[in-house]
Amino acid sequence: MAEMRTHARQTFSSAAKEKWWQRTTVYQVYPRSFADSNGDGIGDIPGITSKLEYLKALGIEVLWLSPIYASPMDDNGYDISDYQAIAPEFGTLEDFDRLVAEARDKGIGVVLDLVVNHTSDEHPWFTEARKSRDNPYRDYYVWRKPAADGGTPNALTSSFGGPAWTLDPATGEYYLHLFSRRQPDLNWENPKVRDEIYAMMNWWIERGIMGFRMDVIDYIGKQVDQSIVTDGPHLHDYLKEMNRRTFGGQDLLTVGETWSATPGSALLYSGTEREELSMIFQFEHVTQQWDPKFGKWRARPFDLVKLKAVLNKWQYALSDDGWNALFWGNHDLPRAVSKYGDQRGFPLESAKMLATVLHLQRGTPFIYQGEEIGMTNATFTSIDQYKDIETLNMHRLHVEAGLSPDDFIRGANENGRDNARTPMQWNAGSNAGFTTGIPWIEVNANHVTINAEAAISDEHSIWNHYRKLIRLRKQHAVIVHGRFQSFLDHHPDVYTYTRTHEGKKLVVVANFSARVIPLDLPNELQVSGECLITNYNRVPQLEERIELQPYEAFAVLASED
Ligand code: GLC
Ligand code: CA
Repeated sequence: MAEMRTHARQTFSSAAKEKWWQRTTVYQVYPRSFADSNGDGIGDIPGITSKLEYLKALGIEVLWLSPIYASPMDDNGYDISDYQAIAPEFGTLEDFDRLVAEARDKGIGVVLDLVVNHTSDEHPWFTEARKSRDNPYRDYYVWRKPAADGGTPNALTSSFGGPAWTLDPATGEYYLHLFSRRQPDLNWENPKVRDEIYAMMNWWIERGIMGFRMDVIDYIGKQVDQSIVTDGPHLHDYLKEMNRRTFGGQDLLTVGETWSATPGSALLYSGTEREELSMIFQFEHVTQQWDPKFGKWRARPFDLVKLKAVLNKWQYALSDDGWNALFWGNHDLPRAVSKYGDQRGFPLESAKMLATVLHLQRGTPFIYQGEEIGMTNATFTSIDQYKDIETLNMHRLHVEAGLSPDDFIRGANENGRDNARTPMQWNAGSNAGFTTGIPWIEVNANHVTINAEAAISDEHSIWNHYRKLIRLRKQHAVIVHGRFQSFLDHHPDVYTYTRTHEGKKLVVVANFSARVIPLDLPNELQVSGECLITNYNRVPQLEERIELQPYEAFAVLASED
């Protein structure tokens, strides 16, 4: 009892310091695939502006845009040639300012993608740097002499396959690129590079943006000579410096993309007193499902017990300090309902179940465009249909290494990045209403049934379920601040947890299987209260023995006894 009182006080004091981004839901737009306003087959900024009403109706308050900057588009904009210009195919700075202003009128803030581990090889810094070894920009990038045998300086590899080093013949040195050879890594040890980046960030902040999503930010402290890529010795110094010199004290939302994060490092990035970032994306629940040898290109069977163990670990670890970013999908990952749900048997039930489980955890939920209408993976059958640089490179390398081409396509259809990049499905019409031209990547044929227009008008749609979850987070402090406790950790089909806060207890129960599951409920879950949300048309009773329908999920709010 005494323990419970202290606990209540602690959560109360954290509630008192609530940040606006703890009660909000973020929507990620992949501009190339969202809405095309001029019929060139490529989504653009005016297209996004034309859909703000749609986002507002959903309840969205923060819009994260994948990169919109000038770019040769080797990696769809994650290769930037001018940080302060908009890619012509996406529009103009004026279009951008209009988007920010109209979004603000609707209560929506715009978060930009900050890609500062690397630039494009067409960035003027790099075209200068490669001119000569004593060019003033040389040290903006990472150059090393060839090894004694003329080969690469060391064994570092690129995430997109092959060595992370490319020889620049003009100056006889190798430059580092942890992604494609057209994405040279910036040298963060050079204070001039950091000055330029901070000035650029401030320029965008002054234009009225609401924050940054920071691309592979765990790489910026790298020590290449020791082959240290993530979590280098100066990583957190740089983030503190960046915070101090740019967004610190301005109440913006910052979220780092950190594939290497552990609960321990998450507390460094997002701890309240640390003055680094608001939160980070961790990827343990993603990578634990990959093959040890072929990575995501050979999928492993889904294992709920393992998934729960990872999600729970993160919930517990950040319960007193730090903050989670909650997500199932993004532009690099498969579609949530295809990966974790049952897109054939129970598409609606399973998509709603996944949303329920994620959005009622502690952290800020992120929705990836199209997830809210249950968009599914692409169904490409030939390598020619894929556009993603990573998929195309890996196809070559893995097939050379002995993976059969069919296995590769199967893997790509499960986990490849193009799954999330097929155009947003707005309606049942031609090209799903995405474009009047020829889309840059094929539209999924299932847009005839899965589309926003149909979803909005159906009160039982996945879209309306998301809308409700977003609203519930605004209304209930227990969803924002409640202490997390998981139950039945070893149950292979059921995920169930509670959130408790100031005398309230929220019980969340979800069936991750296509079968009816009889369940003996632990005492702590046998409560009666108000059903806040469910994906079945019945009021759940939390009795000693219950039966869950396929992919059934609900949340009941009770008083703590
Ligand atoms: C991040 C982005 C991904 C991009 C890579 C290189 O992982 O999410 O799309 O290819 O960084 O910038
Ligand atoms: Ca366009």
